[in-house]
Amino acid sequence: MNKARWNLLLDGILALAMLAEVVSGFVLWLVLPHAGGYRGGRGLEVAKQFIFERSVWLTLHDWGAVVLTAGILLHIFLHRKWIACMFGNLWRNAKDAARTRRTANAQVAAQDCPN
Ligand code: HEM
Repeated sequence: MNKARWNLLLDGILALAMLAEVVSGFVLWLVLPHAGGYRGGRGLEVAKQFIFERSVWLTLHDWGAVVLTAGILLHIFLHRKWIACMFGNLWRNAKDAARTRRTANAQVAAQDCPN
């Protein structure tokens, strides 16, 4: 498999993990909220489960976080040369711009106060 396909596979896994993380996060927060007391203070009125039990959503959320974190670190590692190149370019451009500014300022200063 070539590099582009590995990147596509990793990015696909990252997209799925992000979806699982966001959906499980909102289900845990808004649909099956957690508090103190019997059944998390929800008593008998609030839904005990939504498609799956709360513990299943929590497991999905935990492993989604693991896959997401590992995937992001791997993604950064695979693109380390691109990241270094971009920062290098930004640094060089900033230095060039500063040099141009200094030259322009010196010219203006020379015009303003010729000696
Ligand atoms: C839209 C995004 C997210 C929402 C709405 C959300 C929501 C929540 C909620 C409500 C809990 C508490 C669960 C409980 O009652 O025990 C929780 C726990 C947690 N969240 Fe998220 N979360 C989100 C994204 C993330 C992300 C991006 C990560 C890490 C990459 C993450 C990692 C965790 C972990 C490790 C816990 C502790 C779970 C446990 O108690 O076992 N969450 N999140």
